[in-house]
Amino acid sequence: MPSVYIKTYGCQMNERDSEAVAAQLVAKGYTLAPSATVADVILLNTCSVRDLAEQKALRKMENLAAEIRRDRPGVVLGFMGCMAQSRGQELIDRLPDVDLVLGTQKFHRAADCLDEIIAGRRDKIVDVAEEPGSEATIREHLLYGNAAKNGGGAVGGHRPPPPVTAFVSIMQGCNQYCTFCIVPYTRGEERSRTIPDIVAECRQLAAQGVKEITLLGQIVTSYGKRFSQAELFGGASVSASRLVSSLAPPKQTPFVQLLDAVHEIDGLERIRFTAPHPKGYGDDLIEAYARLPKLVESAHLPVQSGSDRVLKLMHRGYTRERYLALIEKLRRARPEIGISTDIIVGFPGETEDDFEQTLSLAREVEFDQAYIFKYSQRRDTPAAGLPEQVPQKLREERNQRLLAVINEIAAGKYQKFVGRRTQILVEGPSRKNPARMTGRTRCNKIVVFDSVEREHRGRLMGVKITRASSFTLYGDPVILD
Ligand code: 5AD
Repeated sequence: MPSVYIKTYGCQMNERDSEAVAAQLVAKGYTLAPSATVADVILLNTCSVRDLAEQKALRKMENLAAEIRRDRPGVVLGFMGCMAQSRGQELIDRLPDVDLVLGTQKFHRAADCLDEIIAGRRDKIVDVAEEPGSEATIREHLLYGNAAKNGGGAVGGHRPPPPVTAFVSIMQGCNQYCTFCIVPYTRGEERSRTIPDIVAECRQLAAQGVKEITLLGQIVTSYGKRFSQAELFGGASVSASRLVSSLAPPKQTPFVQLLDAVHEIDGLERIRFTAPHPKGYGDDLIEAYARLPKLVESAHLPVQSGSDRVLKLMHRGYTRERYLALIEKLRRARPEIGISTDIIVGFPGETEDDFEQTLSLAREVEFDQAYIFKYSQRRDTPAAGLPEQVPQKLREERNQRLLAVINEIAAGKYQKFVGRRTQILVEGPSRKNPARMTGRTRCNKIVVFDSVEREHRGRLMGVKITRASSFTLYGDPVILD
């Protein structure tokens, strides 16, 4: 059987989609190639959020076509995911070596498409159509996937340990239509899986040793919004919905009902989710942090800007004041909560004053981590057509100024951990130095400690933090009271 190499660009949702495709291909007998140079099939799972990500994937494919196809003309080359969805046939017109273009609702068709191409039944396939029900097709896990990334998975008779953490896709698409964002066009309308379907997947993962699950979607706080209470439970029998609704009063949003249901699963120790939208962060979700011990004290809350004027132009649906009030409520519910964010600099029309409001918001919130994005004009999005596009040089300058503030705040926050005892979930050996292990705190900070004890993997463990560097803590194992 052929071997496949998948390279992923972009977010955790893309990583999850790649994992599901890899699992699908492995189930059909494919092996996972450790690098593109030895693979029979090379798939690039792409990101369209910024032009830079698209250009990187295009350049990679150009190089693959020039270098790998030249020596091994039988190699199959494909684009999947967001850029495949938004550019479609154009990708083959531009790069005729590409055999397959598979959109965001078609990941589950990857194996069939490759079969057709490899068997010579079809020369090129472009499949970017909408597909009802596709939101429930990202469900297969490559349980030894982490090891596969490090060189061949279970190949060679050595069976690596199962993973400690897993991503579970709960919904697809976004209806928010932020004016800068291409996601509604690449991922489509919001579509959710049912609670029993998601719980079954999480339960299976827990039975296989997974301790921490991250629930994923483009806008998870909109999870299940279009469902009736019965549909949320799979149009379930009255007894099934009564069973689950006994866990959570129905006045709660579907997302909080899902959290309640996942929380019940034995063996799971921690629950995370990403990405929520601040406007969907209702009191029921804040209250869930106080009520559900497995829901870790960590929140990724994309703010995008500190200026009300810009937030309105972005169509974000909240003000600076409401965002700050939300942070305050979260910190009241869980004082230790780690808060990260996404911020765009250089949105069209962003003035120096607007930007300074973003700087002051960053200082006021004291984010633990922030991902800064220079605004990038995206096809078909309203903001791309706005006058007053900010010059590239100014976007870069603002990026640097904000980065300095974010780094300074984070350094102070990380430093405060030194001397403290905290709980981590041990994920495995450090990639940089295998004589060390890494884990994560509940508030999502990476902790590195000296150990070659592989059986620590998957355990909740106490550590005393001895040192902090940028975005990493170092510690020694201790017994927690
Ligand atoms: N330009 C720059 N950054 C963007 N993002 C989304 N669209 C754009 C764009 N056009 C950022 C947002 C989002 C993150 C995933 O990517 O900050 O939260």
